[in-house]
Formats: sequence, structure tokens, C-alpha cells
Amino acid sequence: MRISFKLNGKPVTVDVKPNEILLDVLRLKLGVKSVKRGCERAECGACTVLLDGKPVYSCTILAPQVNGHEIVTVEYLASTGELDSLIKAFVDKAAIQCGFCTPGFLLTAYALLKENPNPSEEEVRKALEGNLCRCTGYKKIIEAVLEAAKHFKR
Ligand code: FES
Ligand code: FES
Repeated sequence: MRISFKLNGKPVTVDVKPNEILLDVLRLKLGVKSVKRGCERAECGACTVLLDGKPVYSCTILAPQVNGHEIVTVEYLASTGELDSLIKAFVDKAAIQCGFCTPGFLLTAYALLKENPNPSEEEVRKALEGNLCRCTGYKKIIEAVLEAAKHFKR
């Protein structure tokens, strides 16, 4: 079947199988490599994308479900400068090691700050609970999001 949706600000049309997951369509058919394949069972958040502004696991969304909707990934938000404060804070706080989880964390944190520009530490922890990192131990990531909130432009 053929689906159409907005990807990173541009309309795309792509042929998919009814049971094809969005993660595969983005990575394999549309070349969006920031979306990572981790657990593939809704546990790690490495495959996070924004669906109509909300973070979702692209490994749990069937491609036909996004027909007519909007998907945003790190590639786009980095190009518009909207991730600048988060990226700077992640670097400054050393909240990135291997980087595999980082796009997912950035999108989840971005969605949080759009909705709540001044979150408490508890609110940051809660928002990020669906994203796993096996390198940093989370403390630095949480510090980075709190730091980014001070400079985040909504
Ligand atoms: S790959 Fe989707 S949640 Fe882990
Ligand atoms: S930085 Fe390596 S998994 Fe998070």
C-alpha cells in the first residue's frame, strides 16, 4: 500500500507493507539514520521519533498508522537550530558517550521542554523513563536537560 505523510517538514509518499514498522520505513526506505534500532520491543527508546509532536517508539508503530500525520526526527530539529540548547548541554555535561541512545533522548527532552519549559528534576526523570542508556548512568543526561531548560527557545 502507498502512504503519504510529512517527514521533517516535507511531504513524502512511500510504498509499505501493511505490517511494516515505521522504524524500518524510516531507516531502510527513507534513509533517516538517527532513528536507531535497539530492542525493537518498546523498551529502550532508541527508535524514538515525534509523531504529531509527541515522542513515540517507531518500532511499535505500523507505517500505515502515520498516513496523513507528521514525523519529525533529530535531523530536522538540528537543522533548524531548535536542538541547540539541548545539544550544547549534552556536550557540556558529558551526557553522550557512544551516542546510540542520544537522538531518542534529545527528542524526548525536546518534547518535554516544548510542553514544560521549566521542569523539575522529578519531571525530567519521569519524561525520560522510557529512554535507556547503557553508558552514562542518567545523572549527566538529567543534568543536561535541566541546564538546557535555562536556554531553551520554545
Ligand atoms: S527499538 Fe524501539 S523501543 Fe527499543
Ligand atoms: S551514550 Fe551509549 S547508550 Fe547512551
